[in-house]
Amino acid sequence: MNIPQHVAIILDGNGRWAKKKGMPRNYGHIQGAKNLEVIIEESHNLGIKYLTVYAFSTENWNRPKEEVDGLMKLLRNYMKTCLKTATKNRMSVRVIGDKSRLDEDIQKRIVELENLTRDYEGIHLQIAINYGGRDEIRRCIRTLADKVNTGELLSEEITEDVISNHLDTSGIPDPDLLIRTCNELRISNFLLWQLAYSELYFTEVAWPDFDKSELMKAIESFNGRSRKYGGVEEQ
Ligand code: IPE
Ligand code: IPE
Ligand code: MG
Repeated sequence: MNIPQHVAIILDGNGRWAKKKGMPRNYGHIQGAKNLEVIIEESHNLGIKYLTVYAFSTENWNRPKEEVDGLMKLLRNYMKTCLKTATKNRMSVRVIGDKSRLDEDIQKRIVELENLTRDYEGIHLQIAINYGGRDEIRRCIRTLADKVNTGELLSEEITEDVISNHLDTSGIPDPDLLIRTCNELRISNFLLWQLAYSELYFTEVAWPDFDKSELMKAIESFNGRSRKYGGVEEQ
C-alpha cells in the first residue's frame, strides 16, 4: 500500500455528533480531541510522516462565547496531553496560524511544546489554531513586502518557492491527501496555497467516529487515484 507522506484533515462534525446523542456541542469537542490522539498514533503506525489538522479557524471566533471558551479550555489542556503523545511517538509539533490572538498562557504552552519536540523525527504534527488560509497568505505577503522595502529581497526574486518558504508550513511538503469528515464538501479556508494538487477525500462519518478503519478507507481511496500534474502522470 502506498502511504501518503502528508495527510491533512479538516476535523468536522463534533457538534452534530454530540447533538445526535443529546449532548452539548462541547462534549463533541472533548470526544473529538480524544479521537485526535487515536488518529495520531494510527498515522504514526502506518508510516505517515506529516499530519496537519484543522482545530480552530479564523472564522470560528464568531461562534457563541460559551463554545469558544470551551474550545480554548480544551486547547489549553490538549497542549499537556500532546506533550505526552509527542514523547511516546517521537513526534514534533508545530502550531500553524496566528498565535498572537490566543491567551498568553496558551501561547506559552505552544512555545514549550514546539521547543521540546523540535528534534523528533517519528511523525510531524501541525495543528492549525486561529488559522485561515487567506490570513496566512496575507501575513506572508506582508513579510515579503517588508523584505522588499528594506532591500533584503528584490521583487523579481519572489518565486513560488519563496512564497512557500514564508508560509506557516515552511519546510513541510504539501499534503498528498486532504480528508474532511461529516459530509461537508468545502475547504473552509484551510491550506489554500498548499492544497493546490492534493487528492481530496470526503466522508459522511463525523470526526469523533473517524477511526482506524475510516483512515484506511481514505488511504485506499488515495491508492486508487492516478495522480497527475497538468495531465502528466506522477514520476
Ligand atoms: C469541528 O466540529 C470542530 C471545530 C470546528 C472546532 P464542528 O464544531 O464544526 O461541528 P459541526 O460541524 O457543527 O457538527
Ligand atoms: C472548519 O470547520 C474549521 C475546523 C475544522 C477547525 P467549520 O465547521 O468551522 O467550517 P464551516 O463553517 O462549516 O465551513
Ligand atoms: Mg463544522
